[in-house]
Amino acid sequence: MRLHLLLCIGTTCCLALCNSIKYVPSRVFPPLSLNAESEIAEALRAKLSDTVRNVLEDYSLQSQWDSTTSSFAIQLTSTDETIWTSYHTADVTDDIGGAPQKQVTGETAFRVASISKTFTVLALLLEKSIFLDDPVTEYIPELSHTVEDLIQWDQISLRALASHLAGIPRDTGGNCFVWNEILDREDILPMLAELGFPPPNTSERRERHVCQIEDIIENARQATPVFNPNDRSTYSNIAFSLLGAVLQRVTGEEYEDIIRAAVLDPLDMHHTTSLKPLDSQGIIPIEKNDWKTDLGADAPTAGLYSTADDLSKYLRSILGAELLSQAEVHQWLKPVSWSNSGSQAAYGMPWEIQRMTINPGGRVVDIFAKGGSLKGYYSSIMLFPEFGLGLTILVAGAEACLDELRERITTVLLPAIDAATCDHVRSQYVGKYVGKVKGWRIELDIDEGSGLKILEWTSNGTDFLQSYRFLQSIPESSQARLVPTGVLLREKQSWRITWDRSNDRMWSDFRFTNVDDIVYDNTALSEMLISASGNTIEALGITYTKTFEG
Ligand SMILES: *[C@@H]1O[C@H](CO)[C@@H](O)[C@H](O)[C@H]1NC(C)=O
Ligand SMILES: *[C@@H]1O[C@H](CO)[C@@H](O)[C@H](O)[C@H]1NC(C)=O
Repeated sequence: MRLHLLLCIGTTCCLALCNSIKYVPSRVFPPLSLNAESEIAEALRAKLSDTVRNVLEDYSLQSQWDSTTSSFAIQLTSTDETIWTSYHTADVTDDIGGAPQKQVTGETAFRVASISKTFTVLALLLEKSIFLDDPVTEYIPELSHTVEDLIQWDQISLRALASHLAGIPRDTGGNCFVWNEILDREDILPMLAELGFPPPNTSERRERHVCQIEDIIENARQATPVFNPNDRSTYSNIAFSLLGAVLQRVTGEEYEDIIRAAVLDPLDMHHTTSLKPLDSQGIIPIEKNDWKTDLGADAPTAGLYSTADDLSKYLRSILGAELLSQAEVHQWLKPVSWSNSGSQAAYGMPWEIQRMTINPGGRVVDIFAKGGSLKGYYSSIMLFPEFGLGLTILVAGAEACLDELRERITTVLLPAIDAATCDHVRSQYVGKYVGKVKGWRIELDIDEGSGLKILEWTSNGTDFLQSYRFLQSIPESSQARLVPTGVLLREKQSWRITWDRSNDRMWSDFRFTNVDDIVYDNTALSEMLISASGNTIEALGITYTKTFEG
């Protein structure tokens, strides 16, 4: 046992020491265009279905949830089509009518809770008469007249609200429906003294009604800040109810009509709505649940019902830039601020961004996710833009079921799709390329951790990598890599050379951020244009063609 431990430590040390040049890139491969009929998709489906089977078999060991009372719908989609589906129906559900047990499908409605926030933000991004950098008081002037100690709403932009950066409380208080008031919890009320709470100021139970926009604004006026505006992120539901109010004021329409016109109709998402569908269209868990809860003016924060089919359409529309331009999508899928804890987690607008290490070499992938939870309904949508994939998991039942599925599926999916992408790049690009006459050669190789490497670049008989090193003072130990830029030039993919000249010094990471350095005769030295087939490389105006001779 001890020996084993030492060996492990030894290996780790060796990895760390032997590999003192730390190169931890992201995005080293162009995305695979994954076809549902392909062998890769077939293999992926088998792996993922196995994973779900294991989750279902293991649940009793975990005993955090129960497959007889939790149902789920899962879909994986590429930019073009659904690649994999997996559905599970609980043995016991709360569906009324005593009808024969219905099976969960891609058309079954679930509450998707806070996933609604992404629809609210998308509607804002699409509404050209709203300016995200304007203060919220520009649209809701009632918030202006606050006194000291209360929130300085005139300092809070719509963008800050949409990015969890306004520093405002999580939930509304006051006289309408709240999520986090302990005095509203009948199960806890008898235990208050036992739990150590001082007696409440108001002895009588407050009557709560469904929140109207006026309630939300009034409660916001009374609220005190959590952080100062734009200082640090903290999750806020109120923020999105206010953004919904902004949308409604500007358009003069109801939230349901706004997102229907802006998002749902253009994408053919006809089973997504903030109005409760027929019970027969949804899956209702046996446990206490929010299937019927009317969220009123909080609909823009958590009110939507949707299906796995619809959410796959939604994710495809983002990956494929259907409603927003590609540049707007790129902007939308960016971190806005670090989360308050953890160096691998950031908030976007309102994406929950998780940076995952998928390769022993340390290479990272960014996941843009949004989770949702209401009683009995737990859900997550995830975008993996680097691989052109989107994943939806909808659960009716226990939260632990979603946690388990999400954890296991992503940790299987990402390394698998990464390996498949790597194989594709290997067969497409690795090899020797030669010019028309002797003395012009490029040789590419690959490693999974760091992508394509330039082993050789001989230009007119001269070791051109050496010339590059000489011109830019790049140490001998540095390896030249190729980074796919996603840019098409003259119908070829533009790749850029980067040098892994990092060492263990704190600031060395920044050396990688620069892929455009010196130019020769108006052409970037770092640019290589590779044809779609991978058969030719153009560098400094010279064309090199793939050769299968030694
Ligand atoms: C209870 O009421 C008193 C008097 O109005 C007030 O000073 C105090 O802050 C209140 N406590 C809470 C927890 O609201
Ligand atoms: C290659 O280098 C030789 C000198 O060594 C030069 O005369 C010739 O023009 C160069 N050819 C090209 C195509 O650059």
